[in-house]
Amino acid sequence: MKPTDLRGILQYIPRFREKVFVLAIDGAIVTDENFANILLDIAVLRSLNIRVVIVHGASAQIRSLGEQQGTKPSDLFGAGITDAETLKLALTAANRLTHEILEGLSANDLRAVTTNGIIAHPMGIIHGVDHLFTGKVERVDVDLFQSLLAQGLTPVVPPLGFDGDGKTYRVNSDHVAVSLADALKAAKLIFITTADGLLHEGQLIRQMLASDLDQILASRKNEILPPEMLSKAVHSAAACKAGVQRVHIINGRVDEGLLAEVFSNEGIGTLIYANEYQQIRRALKKDIRSLLLLTKQAVDTDELVKRSRAALEKNLGDYFIFEIDRNPVACVALHVYPEEGKGELGFLFVSPSHENQGIGRKLYNFVESKAREMGLAELIALSTQAFNYFISKCGFVEGTPDDLPPARREKYESSGRKSKVLVKKLK
Ligand SMILES: CC(C)(COP(=O)(O)OP(=O)(O)OC[C@H]1O[C@@H](n2cnc3c(N)ncnc32)[C@H](O)[C@@H]1OP(=O)(O)O)[C@@H](O)C(=O)NCCC(=O)NCCS
Repeated sequence: MKPTDLRGILQYIPRFREKVFVLAIDGAIVTDENFANILLDIAVLRSLNIRVVIVHGASAQIRSLGEQQGTKPSDLFGAGITDAETLKLALTAANRLTHEILEGLSANDLRAVTTNGIIAHPMGIIHGVDHLFTGKVERVDVDLFQSLLAQGLTPVVPPLGFDGDGKTYRVNSDHVAVSLADALKAAKLIFITTADGLLHEGQLIRQMLASDLDQILASRKNEILPPEMLSKAVHSAAACKAGVQRVHIINGRVDEGLLAEVFSNEGIGTLIYANEYQQIRRALKKDIRSLLLLTKQAVDTDELVKRSRAALEKNLGDYFIFEIDRNPVACVALHVYPEEGKGELGFLFVSPSHENQGIGRKLYNFVESKAREMGLAELIALSTQAFNYFISKCGFVEGTPDDLPPARREKYESSGRKSKVLVKKLK
């Protein structure tokens, strides 16, 4: 789907209307030539009644202002020590940048405002080192932000915090963004950076469960995350923990990147999602053996169709595992037929020891919300023995083999299993 495809965008409107998106924009992106396009994308979001809060960093500008003035900043990112000189640089750089963003928003007829709504206190002395004017967000003035957003204004928030004595602190902008997303119950937090997203062995990670990111951060963070992305990764995981369901990391230099990320299935960067069902995760190669073992009995009794190790491996991305204390106790698959706009829910199995605890339902809901996210129009399921379950518990109706995509129908005919075909319209 092209982001410019209006029909494609329209399907997202009810879901996002009046929801808050926090955009955390690196300072280097504000001065990039593509920033004009980002402003246009923000104007599109606003026209769809999405409430936007912009948080910006300023490290690139602090660095160059320091060079111009012959001063070496004590810290660029608002996480180390901010001495008095660096605070001055940060104030000048951040205020200029805020102003630049306000100008850009004006040029797009967007009403915007900057605030003192980030209440901070000093980071203090850590391991004997006084962090001076580096601050931590103590709280967000939620009423202030909500009333601005309700009036259709776009708050622009610099990486600075204020305390009750009128002092200013330099605060890390990723930290400000997470605090705001948490306090305003944002539907999305989008980091707009100079990198494509999180990479693994040079490959862009398209999607990642927050719990998987947590695991990486706990054990292999230096292996998988270059230092410049570590802050984004840490703050993405923190945002998911705080209840933000979707965190995106995208490259701000890609034209139409913001719209593509929000309004297309693939997106351009990395999506980190905190699922309501934390125990559901994508199956990995190392899970194939447990999947085969778990489902063996259901295959023997013809409840499930037999899948070979190679078949599982080939479409591994379609399979999900429900685990309790790291033990796989259930599984499900979503096979997508993009041409027909249909998805097939398959391989739904709950181990007998865990039946009737709502796990089947959770897996079904997970697949349905995934299918909706992908913009699929219909879900189908084939079942020999659980068709009543799909009808009475999941809202399917009985269909016919004509409902199957042609390729699937061929397999259906040749299998001779005579499963019932079940259909659920999603649109
Ligand atoms: C069908 C299945 C997935 C249900 O999983 P589960 O986690 O036990 O189900 P849930 O806890 O979500 O739901 C339980 C409810 O569904 C009902 N239910 C369970 N299996 C059912 C079936 N085969 N037909 C009709 N209702 C069924 C239960 O009686 C219970 O009803 P209640 O809410 O009124 O008490 C599971 O029994 C299973 O793995 N079956 C074998 C594999 C299979 O046939 N898969 C489908 C092919 S894709």
